[in-house]
Amino acid sequence: MGNRQKMVFGNWKMNLNKKEAEILCNELNDGLAIADVKVGVFPSFPYVSQVAENANHFSIGVQNFYPQETGAFTGEVSITQVKDVGAELALIGHSERRSIFNETHSFLKKKVDASLVAGITPVFCCGEPFEVRNAGEERAYVLQQLEESLFHLDKRAIQKCVIAYEPVWAIGTGLTASTEQAEDMHSAIRSWIANQYDQECADSISILYGGSCNASNAKELFSCPNVDGGLIGGASLKSDSFLAIIHSF
Ligand code: 13P
Repeated sequence: MGNRQKMVFGNWKMNLNKKEAEILCNELNDGLAIADVKVGVFPSFPYVSQVAENANHFSIGVQNFYPQETGAFTGEVSITQVKDVGAELALIGHSERRSIFNETHSFLKKKVDASLVAGITPVFCCGEPFEVRNAGEERAYVLQQLEESLFHLDKRAIQKCVIAYEPVWAIGTGLTASTEQAEDMHSAIRSWIANQYDQECADSISILYGGSCNASNAKELFSCPNVDGGLIGGASLKSDSFLAIIHSF
């Protein structure tokens, strides 16, 4: 089992305004005092520093950044800039960035490297679309995502990463992976890490599940031996559902 940490992260995506972000942050501060789980939220860029300044019991992450230190990249934000305003985590490889913004394996690899250099924890997302699962090729698909963007790291570096398995067909659809499907992929991911590095390394990395995880199904999903928590979209936008998920461990 190892000593891996339980985590619940909220990906706010392109939701909430300034006031709503402030209210949610305050409600999480009030509700989290006793939680024995690492909690993080990923606000939209304009609110990252505001939430970081007010967060008491949880970490702040960014949904995106550009893997260059400084320079002529109009509209982009560097990882050191987000670190400067209090971010500690960065989502990398989310399916929406892969599919809508065409982020490739090699680009994601650069983001992983830049994030580690800056001392920011990469939360590396992987997961197959519906057609791939339908064809029974989900394991090969997810393994390739890991091999192309993560497995170039050495053992010390990969142990600084968090992995989130988010089957694309479950994101925002209300369809959740069954506990069997989630456990099957999570244990496969852990055994690939053990093969590539070693078992101790595999047992130290938290692997989160994402995709229509909510207050009603979190307890069951989190009870799977290889599911160490969740990456939550819609249900992280309200404190009652997000806190219920966190407290379902
Ligand atoms: P939902 O929880 O809304 O399905 O989103 C999951 C997700 O994409 C988190 O990154």
